[in-house]
Amino acid sequence: MSDEKDAAAGDASAAAAGAKPAAPVGSPPMTPIDPAGPAPTVLPTGKSNTIGPGIRASLEKKPAGAEPAESRRTFMKVALPVGWVAFSAACASSLVATARFLFPNVLFEPPQAFKAGFPGEYNVGEVDTRWKDAFGVWIVREADGFYALIAVCTHLGCSPNWLAAENKFKCPCHGSGFYRTGVNFEGPAPRPLERARIVLADDGQILVDKSVKFQQEKGEWENPESFLKA
Ligand code: FES
Repeated sequence: MSDEKDAAAGDASAAAAGAKPAAPVGSPPMTPIDPAGPAPTVLPTGKSNTIGPGIRASLEKKPAGAEPAESRRTFMKVALPVGWVAFSAACASSLVATARFLFPNVLFEPPQAFKAGFPGEYNVGEVDTRWKDAFGVWIVREADGFYALIAVCTHLGCSPNWLAAENKFKCPCHGSGFYRTGVNFEGPAPRPLERARIVLADDGQILVDKSVKFQQEKGEWENPESFLKA
């Protein structure tokens, strides 16, 4: 009895000291666990049924060329959408260019020639401003006839205004002034306003043609088509 107590006391002290516990009496001996894995089983043929470290390493190793193939797949994933976007943009821009070619921006200018009514509709001594906005022309009725002044300042091309109270044309840009005849008398304008061709049409109406202009400084106001006698 005292021997059993001594044995139990010995086991307890050994466990406290971190020693491996002794196998109970009568049980098979304990096999220590190998952290590297189970021990290979030896087959009857004498060969092991486990994979050796060399074979395991060769299996885990990626086949040659696997990484470049993966890189290619990643590249294609990024490059394809970018390529399609660029292709679509190029197609869209060429479509726009084609549309602009087929339907160009056309600048619609007012007609150069127009009929301005019958002579009897004008009052002597008046500047008719009805045609300025649509055709850029004033028609002046004098006692002996008509002339058409082009509403473009001879300084830098602004459009002067007719000031009836002051009996003159005045340019809002730099202050040039023109008499009712179109002759410049103040401001930087270097020469008189230009006159347009004015004749009677077949139907008796006044016909003004801005494509034919007459300049006073060139003596062109003497041209019979620069003044319509009444
Ligand atoms: S453009 Fe008319 S005064 Fe300068």
